[in-house]
Amino acid sequence: MVELTEAFESIFKTKLAKLLRTNRFGKSIYVFNELDSTQDYANALPITESVHGTLVIARKQNVGKGRIGRSWISPEGGLWMSIVIRPDFSVDNIIFIQFIAALAVADAIQQATNIRSRLKWPNDVLINGKKVCGILVDVNLEGKDKKIVMGLGLNANIESSLINNYLTADTTKATTIKEEYGNDIDLVNLTKSIIERIEYYYNFLSSGKALEIIELWKQNSDMFGRRAIVYDGFEKIMGEVVDIDQDGSLLMKLGDDSIKKITYYGNVTFH
Ligand code: BTN
Repeated sequence: MVELTEAFESIFKTKLAKLLRTNRFGKSIYVFNELDSTQDYANALPITESVHGTLVIARKQNVGKGRIGRSWISPEGGLWMSIVIRPDFSVDNIIFIQFIAALAVADAIQQATNIRSRLKWPNDVLINGKKVCGILVDVNLEGKDKKIVMGLGLNANIESSLINNYLTADTTKATTIKEEYGNDIDLVNLTKSIIERIEYYYNFLSSGKALEIIELWKQNSDMFGRRAIVYDGFEKIMGEVVDIDQDGSLLMKLGDDSIKKITYYGNVTFH
């Protein structure tokens, strides 16, 4: 048994390192058979052990974390990964970190399965209206150890019932790549594609091209023109989704035709 778990960790890491064609992302990789949370692990890594682009991956998480204090069901078969980013761009661009993660995941899913995902503000990836991937961004810009930890939870080779049984009624239903594609997919190859696409989109931010990220994000979303309910903090807002602002906020048209800008990462449901 011990041999098997050791094999998973080292096989995954060796294969991934060999496949990756990146300059900076994935030069340092930690793989675990199980962890409470890759996000916690990455957040706690000392500065000397977490260079820009460090990856933390777990085969399963025991206490996976979602946004807004939710838990994240993370059984074996999914991709549970956190990435350390040492930002070299303006703090105004931090919101775009979740956009580049979502774009990268959508590209990687398309490459592997030909399935086109859709992006939902602020940071979900959906297939057929159901959530296949969630993104969690922790930002610490205090002191010397300035870092962003980008967490990706991708329901790959698992049954959605494992997740949906735990969700509350107001949460977007989950789906998995296995169910949408009809087959398991290779997790190492999927990880490779995601990381390469993250590096590709990250370079847009580093070179001041955040507006191009917004355009690309919009092309991959089908939210626009739809009626939605959004929580901006505790305020419930109903209206039509009209655009993404230059700073990454969601713009909604309300009943009186005024435009409301949503900056808090509230939850969006369509109706
Ligand atoms: C969401 O609520 O939509 C975000 C979910 C993010 C889950 C991922 S899984 C890898 C990383 N480790 C965690 O504990 N959470 C993130």
